[in-house]
Amino acid sequence: MFDFSKNPSHLALLSRYVAESCCIHLGEEKRYLFEARLGTIISESGASDIPEFIALANADSEGRLRDKIIDSMTTHETYWFRDARPWESLEKFILPELGSLLRKGQKSHIRILSAACSSGQEPYSIALLLNNLKANGQLEGVNLSSFEITAFDISPGTLLMASMGRYSQLEISRGLPEYWKNNYFEPTLSNTWTLKSNVRSMVTFKRKNLQDNLNSLGSFDLILCRNVAIYFEEHFKRDLFTRLAQILLKDGRLMLGGTETLLSHQDLFQPEQIGGSFFYRKKI
Ligand SMILES: C[S@@+](CC[C@H](N)C(=O)[O-])C[C@H]1O[C@@H](n2cnc3c(N)ncnc32)[C@H](O)[C@@H]1O
Repeated sequence: MFDFSKNPSHLALLSRYVAESCCIHLGEEKRYLFEARLGTIISESGASDIPEFIALANADSEGRLRDKIIDSMTTHETYWFRDARPWESLEKFILPELGSLLRKGQKSHIRILSAACSSGQEPYSIALLLNNLKANGQLEGVNLSSFEITAFDISPGTLLMASMGRYSQLEISRGLPEYWKNNYFEPTLSNTWTLKSNVRSMVTFKRKNLQDNLNSLGSFDLILCRNVAIYFEEHFKRDLFTRLAQILLKDGRLMLGGTETLLSHQDLFQPEQIGGSFFYRKKI
């Protein structure tokens, strides 16, 4: 096992490398996290110390070692219809309202973004709601292909899982009532469940870093950026929410995680209560 206690300044180097790669700032007090998540990767790389390990990561032109570091140091916790309540607001109010804009010809497409989508449960929860609204006649006259769902994450490992739409027994049980499993998933090999292809194909997954220019994604009617900004420092949060405001349409909405608010960014966004939950409209 790689010994992180030998040289604290080396741990600082690693911490800086992670922060520069994905904006996640983990101080040296999180040594146990570096040990648990990177110890084996460092040992397997053959590097004798952390500077050599970072040099190897920088020298790898295909970025495979860097990807492994990012995969390991990011937290991918996610589940279906996470926090329940805002999803009720989406189902009852927001998605039917967006559907009626399409029906009336006021919009030709509705664009939805799941930023930092992890293994796909978040954007697929939207696709499930849309399919179910359609099946229940609440999107009559609306073609589901008019909804474009884009989802991105920095972590290649989770994106691979997301694009397959295949989940273990544990993953499928987290937040997903039986009704959805029975109607929209198929049992597959090794005790897994795979989302039906018509639902899966509604989501386009991309690899993207929240540090990147987001303008190339186009503009959105609804942006979900949930449970990721909590890992970022204030100045980067500010920069991120400014850039998200730029790609949110004037009448669009931003959906945050259940415990997140935009209190420090009230000049950018104003809260709007819909059903029992808060969404955000941009001010600028
Ligand atoms: C805790 S998960 C949240 C997933 C989902 N949004 C949810 O609320 O259930 C955080 C995700 O953010 C991704 N992430 C972390 N830093 C990122 C960055 N700089 N750019 C893009 N994605 C990032 C991680 O890979 C991880 O999948």
